[in-house]
Amino acid sequence: MRKKVIAGNWKMNNGISETVGLISEIKKEMSGKNFNCEMIICPPFVNLETAGALLKDTVLKLGAQNVYFEESGAFTGEISAAMLKGVGCEYVILGHSERRTIFGESDQVVNKKLKTALKNGLKPIFCVGETLEEREKGITFKIIEAQIRNGLNSFTESELENLIIAYEPVWAIGTGRNATPQQAQDVHLFIRELIGKMFSAGYAARLIIQYGGSVKADNAIELLSQADIDGALVGGACLKADSFIKIAEAS
Ligand code: PGA
Repeated sequence: MRKKVIAGNWKMNNGISETVGLISEIKKEMSGKNFNCEMIICPPFVNLETAGALLKDTVLKLGAQNVYFEESGAFTGEISAAMLKGVGCEYVILGHSERRTIFGESDQVVNKKLKTALKNGLKPIFCVGETLEEREKGITFKIIEAQIRNGLNSFTESELENLIIAYEPVWAIGTGRNATPQQAQDVHLFIRELIGKMFSAGYAARLIIQYGGSVKADNAIELLSQADIDGALVGGACLKADSFIKIAEAS
């Protein structure tokens, strides 16, 4: 039985005071409620330490939105895995489509980042997804397969025990147009079968596969009730405490 994982990707939103405010609202929304899922928040780098301190007495886990693949050195503007661990991060989002398209991250760069994250004990949320053009051309599975095979190139199954995959169709991110539960389920099943072929059936059955792309409180139940959808990576709707918590309650 896979435990669902709900992660909030704050993207480039919220300064320190908003971070303190949103976390205190999230804690208020959580009080007196029981959750069946793991919950993660991923604020911008500069707010991680503050957020980490505020999460100490909660079940919420801390994640970052990126990491550099080198361990240390002359890499102006970059952040290492050890630095993230040092401020209490347990998770890191890698290969998000905004990183791939706006910042030119290739599958090979994502592969190196996955290596560094896992080696340093960070649990990666590895994002894959097709563009609208690719979906309309009917090559969704081909694109997803290439992203996964390249991203997970040269890993052994045991190295990937802490991996989460997030299927995020690019056309559904920030657009208000989520994949239908069936469209998402079809890709999730494809990913699980592919992982089963690349590694083992047992590993594929344990792997958490999140859906991301316009997940909201009102579509979460239907998406999360699909057989192969094990959680959500939430952007816009995680910036409000009540909608983030409603999504977690839908798990
Ligand atoms: P969205 O973003 O929920 O705003 O569509 C999801 C994501 O980018 O992870």
